[in-house]
Amino acid sequence: MNYDAIVIGSGPGGYSAACLLAKNGLKTAVVERDKPGGVCLNVGCIPTKAFIHMAEKISTVKKNQIPGLPDITSGPIDMTAVNQKVQSVANQMSKGIDFLFKQNQVDYFAGQASFMDDHTIKVKSQSEEREWTAKYFVIATGSSNKDFFGNFANPQPDSHLIDSTGALALDTIPEKLIVIGGGAIGVEFAYIYQLLGSEVTLLEYLPNLLPGMDAECGKTLERSFKRQKLKVITGAEVTSVTEDKGICTVEYNKNDQSQSIQADYILLAMGRSPNSQDLGIKNLSANILEKGFVEVDQKTMATAIPHIYAIGDIVSHSPMLAHVAYEEARLACEHIVNQDASFSIDPQGIPFCIYSYPQAAAFGLSEEVATEQGLDFKALKLFFKASGKAVALGKSDGFVKILVDNQTETILGASIVGPDATEILPELLVAYQNKIKLMDLVNTMHAHPTLSELIWDTAKSFYHLNLH
Ligand code: NAI
Repeated sequence: MNYDAIVIGSGPGGYSAACLLAKNGLKTAVVERDKPGGVCLNVGCIPTKAFIHMAEKISTVKKNQIPGLPDITSGPIDMTAVNQKVQSVANQMSKGIDFLFKQNQVDYFAGQASFMDDHTIKVKSQSEEREWTAKYFVIATGSSNKDFFGNFANPQPDSHLIDSTGALALDTIPEKLIVIGGGAIGVEFAYIYQLLGSEVTLLEYLPNLLPGMDAECGKTLERSFKRQKLKVITGAEVTSVTEDKGICTVEYNKNDQSQSIQADYILLAMGRSPNSQDLGIKNLSANILEKGFVEVDQKTMATAIPHIYAIGDIVSHSPMLAHVAYEEARLACEHIVNQDASFSIDPQGIPFCIYSYPQAAAFGLSEEVATEQGLDFKALKLFFKASGKAVALGKSDGFVKILVDNQTETILGASIVGPDATEILPELLVAYQNKIKLMDLVNTMHAHPTLSELIWDTAKSFYHLNLH
């Protein structure tokens, strides 16, 4: 065998699995067909956060929202400079992954990997094709933007029908932009382009934005977006997307009526598909795919072929989130190294985080699911309007909601919509994971004035100890 372990894909799942395996003494290689760092670092989580940060700053200045400063709102936005900054953040992070591989003595192969048999892969690069063998494999090949309408499969030059990768590199700001899909990607890009001055319409098939989260998250976000002049249409099923001479048209059904709207750009954000084509799965001794995703034992991340593991977006029934991939990598590595794992992933303990204003962050049960399950619980809720810190920041949209089991006084789930919601959620996750009683949270002094103080106050309301 050439290697103890070969990891295919170098996104958050792949690079952490490769480094952990190498740290534990396994001779490890990673194969990557694109840039180190995968979607997250190059065209996903990290560059979009840089883009949001810049769009928020630009919007604050353009709208002259800093009291005391003279009006400097005139002049166009230089999108080349914005894109360069976004790209430089992605490049810096991608180089960091190169460094991690060197530091941990992980061999790096650039090229497309595909299985020849259960212990052999072929790696095809521009210049050569080589075969490598290993005792263990970890498939971490991630996902790509889904395209129900076939536009990315047959891309036209300079098409104005774009996906999230295209939306990270536009050299002009669309006058009118239609975003299809009110999930994480759709919400974040609708927010960015509205800040940059586009007239944005966000279409979502289901009754609320951010379906899957507590319904109040999507409803609150929709109300706030409308105040920000971002048009949201929910309950709208898009049926066709066309482009003709630079004019893009979307047809959709709402309340059994067919409607159509036009824009100069359309962003498709209707979910992602697993990258399992070209992996040579058919050459393996067992079928490990289900609808294009790899099936694993969730306790170990091993497939039906015991020495082949899979982690991250490619895994069946696993949320497509970088932090889930990190934990799945740790689980797979523990199992490879010790043939056992010291922990398991609690699906209810997975945080979902959306980066707009307001932000949305949640884990565990939503109020709807807890009600459906007939649980004996209280939904405690306080609004950021009662938070002095939020009002001082001029960001008081949103709420903290904590679901508490009436018998055990422990947390069943929590949703926060508001400023820095993603940063203040984790204290509730620690309380949830450790089954801490709400009174212990109440007895933990929180500083004033902070945003997390609203969590403290919300917890106090269970015992009628809050002032609001
Ligand atoms: P998604 O599955 O989260 O949302 C897609 C949305 O499109 C759904 O709400 C769906 O109802 C809607 N939709 C589908 N077909 C439609 C149609 N014909 N007409 C109107 N609406 C339609 O997918 P998204 O936002 O593309 O994200 C993909 C994955 O990446 C998700 O798993 C997401 O969690 C992850 N991601 C996470 C981020 C974060 O955590 N901040 C950021 C970006 C992506």
